[in-house]
Amino acid sequence: MVQLEQDRVARRIIAAIKEQIHSGAYQPGDRLPSTRAFAAEWGASRTTVTAAYNQLNAEGYLIIRHGARAVVAAGLERATGEAPVSTAPPRNLSAFARRLLALPPPPEQQPGKVADFRYGDLSGADFPVPAWRRASNKAILRRGARLRYGDPQGSSALRVALQGYLWRARGINCVPDQIVIVNGSQQGLDLCARLLLDPGNPFVIENPGYPLARHAFAAAGGVAVPVAVDADGLRTDALPPARLACVTPSHQFPLGSVLSATRRRSLLAWATATGAYIVEDDY
Ligand SMILES: Cc1ncc(COP(=O)(O)O)c(C=O)c1O
Repeated sequence: MVQLEQDRVARRIIAAIKEQIHSGAYQPGDRLPSTRAFAAEWGASRTTVTAAYNQLNAEGYLIIRHGARAVVAAGLERATGEAPVSTAPPRNLSAFARRLLALPPPPEQQPGKVADFRYGDLSGADFPVPAWRRASNKAILRRGARLRYGDPQGSSALRVALQGYLWRARGINCVPDQIVIVNGSQQGLDLCARLLLDPGNPFVIENPGYPLARHAFAAAGGVAVPVAVDADGLRTDALPPARLACVTPSHQFPLGSVLSATRRRSLLAWATATGAYIVEDDY
């Protein structure tokens, strides 16, 4: 998490310096602040600033010589009359990209609000830092003799550990080969969408439901068919024909209800009868 935050700050520094160079605020030959001074100004670590400078050096924006301050390279300033960098979406995009662009943007963060009702944030103080550090140190020291690309399905040691966990925590009986490690729920949903839906196929989504799941299936060209939710979860008495249903049975999003056993059976019966898939988001 710390690394992710550092990468994010480094990207912001890189973008800010490039903008200064393109706009002419920094001229060729100008010296940049030392990494120490820049870090203090930005409230960032020196390591982050050094990484940003090195990246700009690799891209030809800066010239870095040992023991001297970084210097702006020549030929990158914007010519007079040249249009500023466009932020409009590129033309000639695929149908997939056009569907993505048509989706509503995420809600803006409201500064200065009285109360923050955003769900899902955790207290940083609850994070088990010492245990995490011990575990990552142990893992990093166990590196193999050769460093190479891993299994695209995910580390087999992790999949074996998850198999045991899924059996203990969820009563799911599977083999590690049936587990795929993804980079967050969006990648998992995107894979499901691309493997199970063709453009124009209807998919069932809970109403109200998780908008980002709806987006993933809609981006693949699926047509959302919202089905109402009540205190027992998804109303399975009114399921329409569809290629798949995306559900949150153990903790309905956002209402929190648990799908009753009777409804689980009727959901399974619907899937069997219609040949539809059930995508369970067990967040
Ligand atoms: C219904 C639901 N699915 C998935 C997620 C996120 O999963 P991930 O952290 O893997 O992206 C969330 C929320 O935070 C959620 O509310």
